[in-house]
Amino acid sequence: MDYIIDGGKRLGGEISVYGAKNCALALLGATVLTNDTVVLQNCPQIEDVNNMLRLLKAMGKKVQRKSDTVQIFGGLCTTSAPWQYATLIRGSALILGSTLARYHSIDLPLPGGCAIGARPMDIHLLGLEAMGVTVEETPDSLHCFGIPKGTNYNLRFASVGATENLLCASVLAKGESVFTNCATEPEVVALEQMLVAMGADIQGIGTTTLVINGVDRLHGAVFNVIPDRIVAATYLAATVATCGDVTITNCRPAHLTAFIDLLRPHFAIIEYEDAIRLTVEKQPSSYGNVTTAPYPLFPTDMQSLLMSLAAFSNGGQTTICEKLFENRLQHNAQELAKMGAHIDVKDDFAKVYGRGLHGATVQAHDLRGGAGLVVAALNAEGRSRVRDVEHVNRGYSNLAQNLVSIGAKITVID
Ligand code: EPU
Repeated sequence: MDYIIDGGKRLGGEISVYGAKNCALALLGATVLTNDTVVLQNCPQIEDVNNMLRLLKAMGKKVQRKSDTVQIFGGLCTTSAPWQYATLIRGSALILGSTLARYHSIDLPLPGGCAIGARPMDIHLLGLEAMGVTVEETPDSLHCFGIPKGTNYNLRFASVGATENLLCASVLAKGESVFTNCATEPEVVALEQMLVAMGADIQGIGTTTLVINGVDRLHGAVFNVIPDRIVAATYLAATVATCGDVTITNCRPAHLTAFIDLLRPHFAIIEYEDAIRLTVEKQPSSYGNVTTAPYPLFPTDMQSLLMSLAAFSNGGQTTICEKLFENRLQHNAQELAKMGAHIDVKDDFAKVYGRGLHGATVQAHDLRGGAGLVVAALNAEGRSRVRDVEHVNRGYSNLAQNLVSIGAKITVID
């Protein structure tokens, strides 16, 4: 599937954000911790979430979806995650902790997801081993078994997925677990809150040190998936690309502080509790020096949006240092060059020299990179074709239609 985009159409009006992919995936992974019904509201209708639901179903969970509400109940009938789904999404890794906690064993093909870097799992596995779990690795799968018990473990890096897995592994464990250097991304905090709503005993919610006292059982809960901060940032970037005036609703500006702070010196921004209005008159000359890092600093998932903004900025130089996923800079730098961008990449460092872009045929290599290319095409003079937007659909619901609803000119070609 491709998008044909005519650049330069000014965006205006109101656009609403839906639930966050990475929050939904973590919450879905945690449903394995109980047989009771867990109801997730605001659950986005996107491919990665659909594949996670297929994975849970194939393992025995009952799944009912009505629009954005998903009900999950029942137990697993197998602790072997099926290849055809597990290898499609990174989120499949998020059943590791919960399945071990509840069933004391799991066979997991190494998870799929975007080709954005090596994405090792050592932090997850060392943490589980510290809890007494035995880990056997083959080149393409994991076999883990044992009853997790309380432990003290310092994550060598504040990994989102490892924090989520260790949380899930510990909530039913015997004894107290203390995890330090935990991730504090809003999606992790949402998981902590849902686990507490299910009966877990977690202290330090939202901080880098989590103290968990295992309980005997967890029960069902009704929980709202938080709004997708990366989708909100994408709409902001699209507004910049077209010198638009857009109000983004159903979002949490507080989760987007690093991105909003990047835009604030250049544009008129009004923040409400659950909305942002951005009015753009002209492109700034540059965005300065930006380094990606764990929350609350500048997120790697918004780096490709920034690269596009910098590429069509007005003559200045922006530097971007990508500290998390090694392939993310190179992919988009190459594609943006086809639109006339001037970007020099060396290792994890990109120098982006702003200039006018023109339409071109470009290739989406991964989800966030693809969204970055859509943003660049909205700005570019003339017509662009963004190929293989299936990558984008993994994390965005109706991106083209939503942008069209506020003035973009995009045709979807199957
Ligand atoms: N890392 C290790 N060892 C580990 C785990 C992570 O070295 O055991 C490294 C990674 O290679 C990376 C860094 O630590 O350099 C951060 O990785 P993290 O574990 O935090 O990422 P993740 O859990 O695999 C989630 C999101 C990503 C998002 C990152 C960072 C999900 C399903 N995925 O991945 O989202 O980029 O956190 O915020 O929650 C996306 O949505 O497009 C996406 C890639």
